[in-house]
Amino acid sequence: MRLSVNIDHFATLRQARRAAEPEPALAALLAEQAGAAGITTHIRSDRRHINERDLRVLREVVKTKITLEMAATADLKKVALEIKPDTVCLVPEKPEELTTTGGLDVVAGRRRLAPYAAALTRAGIRVSIFVDPAPRQIEACAALGIPQIEIHTGIYADLKPGKERNRALADVAKAAAQGAKLGLEVTAGHGLDYHNVGPIMAIPELTELSIGFSIVARAAIVGITQAVGEMVALLK
Ligand code: PXP
Repeated sequence: MRLSVNIDHFATLRQARRAAEPEPALAALLAEQAGAAGITTHIRSDRRHINERDLRVLREVVKTKITLEMAATADLKKVALEIKPDTVCLVPEKPEELTTTGGLDVVAGRRRLAPYAAALTRAGIRVSIFVDPAPRQIEACAALGIPQIEIHTGIYADLKPGKERNRALADVAKAAAQGAKLGLEVTAGHGLDYHNVGPIMAIPELTELSIGFSIVARAAIVGITQAVGEMVALLK
């Protein structure tokens, strides 16, 4: 199981003072040295944390793999085509949300998403879509011809251990099996932390987890090397 560390909230801290530090690229390098297999970052339309300058620096220094999360908009497509991350993960975006609140509705949005997926693919960028663990959504992703999906684990992660959470976990596991059967590489993320990652990590079809907030929060206390190292050790 690979860990891709989402470094957005180092930039959130920087933006709290509109200052020059902490430098998200430095966080990315330390995360890589501590065992991260990739770096994930989300550029939002309002540039509330990560901006184009950060992406340019990350592209220069990251040695593993950059996954850029972004909404399917003309503005952000232009950014992706300039930066050329290894992977773009298309996500929904609502201006007022604190964080992404669910997967993209690929069933409803397939026609709108297709040209974005095609343009990114033509530029040599691997396309993934952040999707709810719902059979019709997974089918729609496969029909789009993209190679990869990221299953939304937020519903699972927000629940306390118990029957309801077990059902949410089963949905993620079923979606992962369905995606793999359809030939998709299947990753997962959102809301995962040191306590709830265990059952998700046991899903055999998943190849990578994208984890941000819990690692950055822990890094604020114990340092990024330890925070990433502990998560890498858990995933082993
Ligand atoms: N995956 C996607 C698509 C996301 O938008 C986010 C949050 O930016 C994550 C994973 C990581 O979630 P968290 O910060 O809760 O670990």
